[in-house]
Amino acid sequence: MTTPAPAPLTHRLATAEDLPALAALMDVAIGELQKGFLSPEQIAASRAIMGLDRQLIADGAYLVVEQDGVIAGCGGWSRRNTLYGGDHTPGRDAALLDPATEAARVRAMYTNPAFARRGVGRLILSLCEAAAGAEGFTRLQLAATLSGQPLYEAYGFEAIEAFEDDRGGVPVPLVRMGKAVAAPQSPLHHASHGPPPPMGEE
Ligand SMILES: CC(C)(COP(=O)(O)OP(=O)(O)OC[C@H]1O[C@@H](n2cnc3c(N)ncnc32)[C@H](O)[C@@H]1OP(=O)(O)O)[C@@H](O)C(=O)NCCC(=O)NCCS
Repeated sequence: MTTPAPAPLTHRLATAEDLPALAALMDVAIGELQKGFLSPEQIAASRAIMGLDRQLIADGAYLVVEQDGVIAGCGGWSRRNTLYGGDHTPGRDAALLDPATEAARVRAMYTNPAFARRGVGRLILSLCEAAAGAEGFTRLQLAATLSGQPLYEAYGFEAIEAFEDDRGGVPVPLVRMGKAVAAPQSPLHHASHGPPPPMGEE
């Protein structure tokens, strides 16, 4: 007997109705998937600088990836200046970026631990890159946790500078990373090997 193929990963834009489920997913991802990268004290401190950012959902730039109706992960991008952090993180800056001179942000990437290492993060990055490129951005930038850094390196981001954020009471290491936005695929190429459909569509 053959094992049935797993249901495909689908994606859609997050809405305000997703907020409780997304907050719960982020909570468990922060607690579970940073083990091995951070000490328990650093994980506790990282909650001050990670988590839900409603601005991303309001901007229509935050994605939910699902399999069979179960949320497998979430993440998004932003045309605003804030580089990282949740609603509760101080020092946010909602100023709009200039696509001609500034890098779009990749923000708030979290995978449900039950779906880790199944390509959810990579799928969200490809959708964010396509959406930012469609708005004229030529570069992406983000602040990586140590848990996120291997994903971003595998996707083609390069480290710009390492720094620490101690606003949670204990210094938490982060890495500012950047990547050029890949040129859009030609229609012919798109039809056979192109990136997934645009944000908000499956
Ligand atoms: C970072 C995170 C979103 C990655 O999500 P993911 O869906 O498991 O990532 P993917 O399955 O798309 O990984 C793609 C590739 O990235 C690399 N990668 C991802 N996680 C990795 C890990 N823990 N260790 C080593 N390489 C890793 C691998 O090359 C992987 O490909 P492979 O599985 O075929 O080897 C997830 O671990 C997470 O939620 N972490 C906690 C929250 C967090 O720190 N988010 C980042 C904020 S900047």
